[in-house]
Parts: sequence; structure tokens; C-alpha cells
Amino acid sequence: MAMGKIGVVGCGLMGSGIAQTAAQAGFAVTVREVSAELLEKGFRNIDKSLARLVQRGTLSAEQRDAARSRLRSTTKLEDLADCDMVIEAVTELLAVKKEVFQDLDALCPPQTIFASNTSSVSITEMAVATRRPERFVGLHFFNPVPIMRLVELIRTIATDAKVYEEVAAFAARLGKVAVHTSDRPGFIVNRLLVPYLLDAVRALQEGVGSIPDIDQAMKLGCGHPMGPLTLLDFVGIDTTYYIANIMFEEFKEPRFAPPPLLRRMVLAGWNGRKSGRGFYEYSDPENPKPVSLL
Ligand code: 3HC
Repeated sequence: MAMGKIGVVGCGLMGSGIAQTAAQAGFAVTVREVSAELLEKGFRNIDKSLARLVQRGTLSAEQRDAARSRLRSTTKLEDLADCDMVIEAVTELLAVKKEVFQDLDALCPPQTIFASNTSSVSITEMAVATRRPERFVGLHFFNPVPIMRLVELIRTIATDAKVYEEVAAFAARLGKVAVHTSDRPGFIVNRLLVPYLLDAVRALQEGVGSIPDIDQAMKLGCGHPMGPLTLLDFVGIDTTYYIANIMFEEFKEPRFAPPPLLRRMVLAGWNGRKSGRGFYEYSDPENPKPVSLL
């Protein structure tokens, strides 16, 4: 099957990055969000990211304009009905994702492939909520999607081998390197990353170090591009909290249990960089200031 038209559901951090990357690779992309405001916010991110790529010489101005012209936005799920593949990137909650896929299942022809960008929700559980579990895969990208080279590819016991190959070929066309992983919450990256991030919060709560010192230690001591608390703000406090809960639910191991401070931050709407405040405050985004949390 020739893949030409891609649908993306959700235009947040991940959805906007996936849509941009697919458009840069030559696919016609329609992105759906629930409101015009959220679409505008997502497209502002896309424009900013494309501008950075032009600035650093990765893209020419013509390539940027061509990519931009391949992107359409909509608030109607029906507008994704003619897509060859639909990639879901909505909130990390099973009920929300299931509803999206059930609605898509009723709208899209049987050959349309469904992919979820989830990092922790069971691919099998979403697949069996549709009438096409054999055309359902996990396709997990990393933030910032246009820059991070990895994608995790997940097949369930029901995924058709040919569908899996088509999705692997799609990932290669995006310029991504795929690793293959089984349908377990967190897959490979978050299985290892999430306990580390949660441990950084526990270290902060125990007074092991300040926010900037914990970050500096891991940057300069281990060569990480970002410290763990900066990375938590970057990924999203809410997203990490949801992922940790799902992993704890599955494995019942304390290392996956989200520390109470994360829950408090989610309740307060301190969801990290995207909300202007997390472990740092971003009124001057170039110069984030650590906040007092304890
Ligand atoms: N779009 C386009 N270009 C971007 C960009 C974006 N969104 N973000 C960064 N860049 C470019 C910059 O323009 C810059 O280009 P240059 O090298 O030509 O100057 C280059 O990338 C490096 O950016 P910066 O100089 O601003 O800053 P850094 O050197 O710190 O790089 C980073 C930024 C690539 C984000 C780096 O800090 C990093 O790799 N951080 C870790 C990210 C990470 O771990 N992501 C995975 C999170 S887990 C996840 O997503 C899974 C989910 O399920 C939780």
C-alpha cells in the first residue's frame, strides 16, 4: 500500500512534532485538535521549529514552505477519513485514546492503519477496541520529534507482519531509526528513563541537592544534554505523572510510583515548560528560574 496521506490526532508537543516531521518528509498531513486555539498553539510550535531548522541550515526556505503547504488543520475527526495512516498523540489516558480510535474506526476505511504514539498505554488494549487489531501498531516518538532520531516500534500479537513492515518503512522515510520492542508499558526508553526521573524528584524531596544542582550534576557528571528536572519540565509533569501511574499499575514496583510532589504539581497545573511553570519558571524562556516547591 502506498502511504501518502497521514492523519495526526492531537497537536500538542508530540502531535505537532510528528505532523511537522511527516510533512518535511513529503507526506500530506492533516492534524486534528479539539479547538481552534489548540491548533493555533500547535502550529505556532511548528512554525518556530521550522524557523530553527532553516536558521541552522538543515532546511532551505523552499523546503520549509513546501512542508508547511503539506500541513492542514481541522477540528473534525471526519477530515481524517481518507488517510492511509492515522497517528494518535492525545493525552496519555486509556479512556481518551480508546474513544478516539473507536470514532476513527467508524470513519476510516478498513485498510487505514492506526498507530498510537503512547508511551505507556497498552497497544493491545487499544487495538482490540477497534475492528482492525491486525492494522494497529505502536509508534512512539521522542520530544523534540523533529530532532530526536529514535522511534520505538511496537507490534502486538495481533499485528499483521506486512502492516508492521509498512510502518517501519514509513519511520525510515521520516529519517528515524527504529528499535523494536514488545507491548509492555514504557517500552524500552521509558522503562529506564521514568524511574530515573522519579528518583530525581525523590532526591530533591530528601534534600540531596537543589533543583539546579541536581540538574547540573547529571549534565556535567554524566554528559546528559539536560538535567532530570529540566527534562521533566520539557516532557511535561502531567505526561510523566500519567506514564508513571500506568507503569506502577502494571508492575507494582515502588520505583515506578510517582512521588506525591508530582501529583501536587499536576493538581496546581504546574505542568512544566508548556504551562510556564514546573520545577522552573519560564516567564523568560531563555533563562528559567528554579521555583520553591518544598
Ligand atoms: N525544532 C527544531 N530544532 C530544534 C528544536 C526543535 N523543537 N529543539 C532544538 N532544536 C535545535 C536547535 O536549533 C539547535 O540547533 P544547532 O545545533 O544548529 O544550534 C540544536 O537543536 C540544539 O538545541 P539547543 O542549542 O537549543 O539546545 P541543546 O543543545 O540543549 O539541544 C535538545 C536541545 C536537542 C532538546 C537537547 O537538550 C536534548 O537532547 N535534550 C534531551 C531530550 C530528551 O531526552 N528527549 C526525550 C524525552 S522522553 C520522550 O520524549 C518520551 C515521552 O514518552 C516521555
